[in-house]
Amino acid sequence: MASLPSLLLISFLFSNFASTPLAYSLQGYTSKPDVTGIVPKKTMNVIDSCWRTKSNWAANRKALADCAVGFGKAAVGGKYGVIYVVTSPYDDPVDPKPGTLRYGVIQTTPLWIIFSRDMVIKLKNELIVNSFKTIDGRGAKVEIAYGPCITIQGVTNVIIHGISIHDCKPGMAGMVRSSPTHVGKRGGCDGDAISIFASSNIWIDHCYLARSRDGLIDVIHASTSVTISNNYFSQHDKVMLLGHSDGFTADKVMKVTIVFNRFGEGLIERMPRVRIGYAHVANNRYDEWKMYAIGGSANPTILSEGNYFVAPDNHSSKQVTKREASNWKNWRWQSSKDVFMNGAYFVPSGYGSCAPLYTRVQSFSTAPGYMVPSLTSNAGPLRCFVGKPC
Ligand SMILES: *[C@@H]1O[C@H](CO)[C@@H](O)[C@H](O)[C@H]1NC(C)=O
Repeated sequence: MASLPSLLLISFLFSNFASTPLAYSLQGYTSKPDVTGIVPKKTMNVIDSCWRTKSNWAANRKALADCAVGFGKAAVGGKYGVIYVVTSPYDDPVDPKPGTLRYGVIQTTPLWIIFSRDMVIKLKNELIVNSFKTIDGRGAKVEIAYGPCITIQGVTNVIIHGISIHDCKPGMAGMVRSSPTHVGKRGGCDGDAISIFASSNIWIDHCYLARSRDGLIDVIHASTSVTISNNYFSQHDKVMLLGHSDGFTADKVMKVTIVFNRFGEGLIERMPRVRIGYAHVANNRYDEWKMYAIGGSANPTILSEGNYFVAPDNHSSKQVTKREASNWKNWRWQSSKDVFMNGAYFVPSGYGSCAPLYTRVQSFSTAPGYMVPSLTSNAGPLRCFVGKPC
């Protein structure tokens, strides 16, 4: 850590042109359509209302770490570390330079990583993130794009917030540093935007994810305690894979919360596709899909709750659900409080409760589906200015 403090002293100015303060309703989920049937336009969801209304977010960034809900609630990221400032988009996978993103994410100590300015980071190989890191894009427009993207492997407590990860490409086999003392030979990566492998306590919030070679987010190899929230997904085939393969029974431990995301234009399938473990898919907005929205194989358990599904016009693709097996009658898949538009329909199966059985701190009240367009209206990275609410 000896080389870090000098970086921490870097002060920088964010552009501070006026943005209109937004008048948000803080009534939570009590808002009902008024007599005209119009739902109040802005209702902040429970994650956002925990921090977004505060104008001192830039001086108090770590407050974000307390705002997750669902299975990833305990992800502290770099909450107990110092601030590390990325000042350069440059990348060296083997010998990362201070001031680059890779130099920050490989450290063994907790770090809260922020960005001095807008930047497009084209990585030369996969970015291997170590435990107890937050990548916090607030206050800058940060893109990780056009090269290999993010690998979260064999670690805990990672938060990724407010960045765009798009047009990710496969990584070549070669040497990549994963800690200050370890450079390893990597076999190459598939071109996922975010690959979560054998990891836990992970929270992905307010990111933009699009157009990558493989998946946008994979949660595999017995990863668990994950929340994926407030993200904007678009223009992609296989959006989200939860569970490695039908035979990988260690994924039985997998618990993932997918909440307040917007599945936007140009998506085809896997929002998500689940194997073996458990997914709570709540209060997400689905603008369309080409094949299906929620699918799976190998007896996963899925609760679809309070989502807003708009089916595509194609009469053959109105079904939300898809099972990749013939013998699925006992799989527990249930729909509750969902809103179905344009002919969308969910085929439930199985008996018994699909409830997420959250602990008290993980739990949140799922809003009725009709409120989802409002609750997800700011999905994706937010434009945040110092001294103003985001
Ligand atoms: C409609 O959906 C079906 C089933 O997913 C697909 O095979 C077909 O190609 C789609 N048609 C169009 C015009 O997209």
